[in-house]
Amino acid sequence: MQGSDRGKNQAPAGKAPDLPPTAASPGHSAANGKHEPAPPTSRRTHDPHAEGPLTLRRENGALIITIDREDRRNALSLATLQAFGNVFRHHLSPDDRAVIVTGSGARAFCAGADLKERANMGLDAVRAQLVRYRTDLAWLSTCPVPTIAAINGAALGGGLELALLCDLRVAAPHASFALPETSLGIIPAAGGTQYLPRIVGAAKARELILLGTRLSAAEALRIGLIHRICDVEISVLEDALTWINPITSGAPLAQHAALRALRAADRLDIDAGLEFELACYEECLTSQDRIEALNAFSEKRAPVFKGK
Ligand code: COA
Repeated sequence: MQGSDRGKNQAPAGKAPDLPPTAASPGHSAANGKHEPAPPTSRRTHDPHAEGPLTLRRENGALIITIDREDRRNALSLATLQAFGNVFRHHLSPDDRAVIVTGSGARAFCAGADLKERANMGLDAVRAQLVRYRTDLAWLSTCPVPTIAAINGAALGGGLELALLCDLRVAAPHASFALPETSLGIIPAAGGTQYLPRIVGAAKARELILLGTRLSAAEALRIGLIHRICDVEISVLEDALTWINPITSGAPLAQHAALRALRAADRLDIDAGLEFELACYEECLTSQDRIEALNAFSEKRAPVFKGK
């Protein structure tokens, strides 16, 4: 897991505590693992197709969030961060089986912090913006359903950190990756120094952060930074949507339990982790979907999962 709650929330034996929400969420409770519908008023006040500089749409069971700031290479302005928080608070639905984040245009997935906006910010405003990475963006790492970065171009600085928050990363062949913060006199502070070592290992993370090395998609795939590179003929979003079909058509409770157990592996020692895994299995054991899968197997048909 790339959650901001790593190291906390140790699991007592036989009990599987869920991950605490990282964003104040009237609409969703990651704390109990259930989707709770947002109050109707909050939904009414939000355009279902847009949230600030983000556009939203649904396809194949996935909520697709597109950063629509191509002229600034999809950089993360304050309004963009707030909009991400609002997606979690007001738009994520109990029917969403996955969340995909992508950028507009082909040049950049996200060029990191909006450096033009940053140039005019005082110290306290910068500090407040860093907090927003935790409150408005980090929900991607504790979301009740899998999150996927469909990386359509350069993922730099906070843009790469945005991708690191996601459970899965698919990239276009021309995508590139770097954390160049130290060359700008700062460090990655949207979780990059913590998430990157967990994903690519301590040694590679030191190289990427201290040298600011820029990686091609092929190099990123080789070191395990991304899971997949799409074919050149199709868009990375199309590829991601097809690739995650086993998620969006799979058993919802099992998906959720697997996600929680996997994310727990980053914050628990092996003994506590194995206990947590058993507790997550227990949640599936009593489900109708498990019986449906067994029946479908003996009847030689595809299972029809209901999330119960
Ligand atoms: N913040 C604000 N504006 C940005 C930006 C950022 N992080 N990255 C790019 N832009 C703006 C550029 O200033 C330019 O604006 P202009 O047309 O008004 O001059 C516009 O986006 C296009 O940028 P350009 O560099 O011409 O696009 P490109 O497609 O050739 O290259 C990048 C794209 C992302 C590779 C390149 O813009 C880049 O390296 N950006 C800086 C990324 C960075 O260092 N991020 C780390 C932040 S900690």
